[in-house]
Amino acid sequence: MKETSLFDSLLEVPQKPSGPVTCLGMPFESDEARRAHFTEELRKKLQDPEFRKIEGFPIGSDEDILNLSDPPYYTACPNPWIADFIAEWEAQKPEQPEGYHYHREPFAADVSEGKNDPIYNAHSYHTKVPHKAIMRYILHYTEPGDIVFDGFCGTGMTGVAAQMCGDREVVMSLGYQVKPDGTILQEEMDEDGKKVWRPFSKLGVRRAVLNDLSPAATFIAYNYNTPVDSSLFTKEATRILKEVEEECGWMYETKHSDGRIGKINYTVWSDVFLCSECAGEVIFWNEAVDAENGKVLDDFPCPNCSASLTKRTMERAWINIFDPALKETIAQAKQVPVQINYSVPGISGRIEKVPDQNDLNLTNKINDEPIPYWVPSNKVPDGDKTSDPFRVGVTHAHQFYTKRNLRVLSTLRHHLKTSPMEGQLLCLVGDQLPRASKMHKIAVSRLNTNLSKTAGVLAGTLYIPSNQIEYNINLMIGFRIKDVISYQSKRDKKTRQVVFTGSSESTKIPNESLDYFFFDPPFGSNLMYSELNFLWETWLGVLTNKTPEAIENRSQKKNLDDYRKIMTACFREVYRALKPGRWMTVEFSNTKASVWNSIQTSITEAGFIVANVSALDKKQGTFNAVTNTTSVKQDLVITAYKPNGGFEERFQKEAQTEEGVWDFVRTHLKYLPVTKSQGSILLIVAERDPRILFDQMIAYYVRKGYPVPISSQEFQIGLSQRFIERDGMYFLPDQVAEYDRKKMTSGAPQQLSMFVSDEASAIQWLRQLIKEKPQTFSDINPQFMQQLGGWNKNEAQLDLRELLNQNFLCYDGKGPVPEQIHAYLSTNWKELRNLPKDDPTLVAKARDRWYVPDPNKAGDLEKLREKALLKEFEEYKEVKKKLKVFRLEAVRAGFKKAWQERDYAVIVAVADKIPNNVLEEDPKLLMWYDQAVTRMGGE
Ligand SMILES: C[S@@+](CC[C@H](N)C(=O)[O-])C[C@H]1O[C@@H](n2cnc3c(N)ncnc32)[C@H](O)[C@@H]1O
Repeated sequence: MKETSLFDSLLEVPQKPSGPVTCLGMPFESDEARRAHFTEELRKKLQDPEFRKIEGFPIGSDEDILNLSDPPYYTACPNPWIADFIAEWEAQKPEQPEGYHYHREPFAADVSEGKNDPIYNAHSYHTKVPHKAIMRYILHYTEPGDIVFDGFCGTGMTGVAAQMCGDREVVMSLGYQVKPDGTILQEEMDEDGKKVWRPFSKLGVRRAVLNDLSPAATFIAYNYNTPVDSSLFTKEATRILKEVEEECGWMYETKHSDGRIGKINYTVWSDVFLCSECAGEVIFWNEAVDAENGKVLDDFPCPNCSASLTKRTMERAWINIFDPALKETIAQAKQVPVQINYSVPGISGRIEKVPDQNDLNLTNKINDEPIPYWVPSNKVPDGDKTSDPFRVGVTHAHQFYTKRNLRVLSTLRHHLKTSPMEGQLLCLVGDQLPRASKMHKIAVSRLNTNLSKTAGVLAGTLYIPSNQIEYNINLMIGFRIKDVISYQSKRDKKTRQVVFTGSSESTKIPNESLDYFFFDPPFGSNLMYSELNFLWETWLGVLTNKTPEAIENRSQKKNLDDYRKIMTACFREVYRALKPGRWMTVEFSNTKASVWNSIQTSITEAGFIVANVSALDKKQGTFNAVTNTTSVKQDLVITAYKPNGGFEERFQKEAQTEEGVWDFVRTHLKYLPVTKSQGSILLIVAERDPRILFDQMIAYYVRKGYPVPISSQEFQIGLSQRFIERDGMYFLPDQVAEYDRKKMTSGAPQQLSMFVSDEASAIQWLRQLIKEKPQTFSDINPQFMQQLGGWNKNEAQLDLRELLNQNFLCYDGKGPVPEQIHAYLSTNWKELRNLPKDDPTLVAKARDRWYVPDPNKAGDLEKLREKALLKEFEEYKEVKKKLKVFRLEAVRAGFKKAWQERDYAVIVAVADKIPNNVLEEDPKLLMWYDQAVTRMGGE
């Protein structure tokens, strides 16, 4: 009798017929009728050649696209109904009270929180942001009914998060309180430092539009975001697994020592090599794996001639086999079964054995028999990750599996076609594809323990290890049913989000129709999504269109520049679709400074204005402002907005005048956080610093193509006349009261610790040092020397004297003591209090101290410095060779001047002389360079 206890343990439940449904205002007698109607509509649309020309249109036949899609909710191609959904959802939004005005401050929360959740784990992907982390963002930025968009949705966790914002229990699990009327409260500190619960958001489902270039990703996203009849799902999964078991169960049978038939849990396969001395065969597992100590040996003796061997010095053994799918004989690296792990009814625990003759006969029988159903046999296109499988003769999709697992998968795929739950079950099977393949590694280090022996697949690769686990697929899938059911039982039974497939460069979303974006885009060359998703997609019949894939990839001939161009095109497109005055969060993790700079450039190039960049300090679990892009090693959260209040239209008229500058600053200050704190400590909001505000303003002008009508000094003076200064930061009148209140309870803000790595940061460090405490050269020098450890290798090292001379003033004892020094001395020395500014004791104490000039005097100094920098830049223009060590500040000043003079060729010529990484890692240089290239191209 066949053992089917696993399947029998899953409940058999009668199927419920689906009742009438309404979709996009149209009534249907059942959900199947709805699907049939829209499938026909999509079929017609697919005939339209223009539709197929949309960027990122996936590779697949009409039939395969239709099979995978569940229109109008999910299309494995662009979605023609997005505008209809958005209009419907907009009309259904709860009414806001009169006078409601949307206003939010930038927000950053831990993006890795919530990974131990059955929902998060139900379907895997190369990187994932847990829905619980995204929920905090959605709750902060949106109201119930608002429409959220994720243009790089992967598995669609943004959609899950949007739906879960309506789930009281889940919201409370995030540490919020929920009042009976749905008001969500968050714990905060009040003015007296006491903890209080303050309104934070409202309970209620949000809508989501989800897009990804990869059909495998959107297919998972669709399944995550569609309610499932759990009992029907269980019943169908059980039925199909039973049918497959009946047809394929014999392939996982093995004989126990007493003759009883056992069921194979998994078989270990090993590479076979040839001894470099005697050319005899060496089964890697038998010779190199030290199971007792859980180790793979670096060198080991040949079993035939005892010569000392290492894996690197041996050749592989190859076999020639006939590949029926390709109808040709192919060479494959030889692999043999070396261990079987099985269970026998009536014997507790799992048993292990070395395959005996019966087992080898079984393997041969499976290898000799044809597979009765379809298998995907697409050629693996050349990619950055494909040399791993190519090296062992795996060049086509089906070759990633042992014949046994391929046959079981193909039988499963065949039987799924008979199920009304085909899509949902296919997704369940799809999730197991990497682990069902030869990429599944055995954990040698755990061989001597009771822990699981699976080491999964080497993340981000297509690597086929020397020792593999060939799992019993039916068992593997059976175990996963519970995960899906457990997730489905937690979601609401109504909300369906909209999912589509294509490039975010072309979404066809109506202008200014969406309320909030949460993006987790690819990070340069971190993960090659299309290569990694290829295996899944061959089973789905629809493949990623790689042309607009936003990655750095040698095989696709895409470098960082191409990555940036695609990201910019995506951000430009989605900018259009966001309502003015609304926010976008871009999560970005753990990558190179140049990639991070590229993404920030793309964001601003598209028109967004960055209000805040925060990095998660994993150790402390807090967010810090990022002051140094080259030291990025953490998760980053970029917060950007699309300006509103008619600013953009006004700006068109005001751009040539100074009023445009102040309008920009006024608008920008509205979007900046008023306070930032770490625990109970108040922090400086770096974005409110006059120099950072000036840089933001310049970047905005430059990107809009206008000359900047104001100098840095005029900016500083104008700022102090129009806005209110507190602790070196600028505020709007209605913000300053809040800041003052907070400061009363928390005390003065703390400066962020700075990292001196070049001229610009050295100046900033010096400014911080002598602003409150003017000091003499001999006081400053030893402190400065301590900071110099991390100086960039391309940056010309500057003498402290030169830095001080060019940027600060020194009191020479002539004339009255400057206010900056006077203020410091009279507050810190009792005997110097209340003395006139020309008192000889005060003068003597003040002499030779360096201080920060006030804005009126700073102008002269700045002009002198600029002159020196431009002189230096002239030299860079003339030199023929590449520049190895130079002053970045000189290049920045030179680029700015050249841009104002429309001398774009100079920018490009000097940019070519400096090392690529310096250009890519410096946001200012990159901005001038990008602008120059664009303008030269356009002329
Ligand atoms: C970091 S992953 C997103 C993972 C997702 N946050 C999750 O939780 O599953 C980035 C995604 O961007 C997609 N992608 C790459 N280029 C794209 C483009 N031009 N348009 C849309 N999606 C793109 C990739 O297919 C990949 O799924």
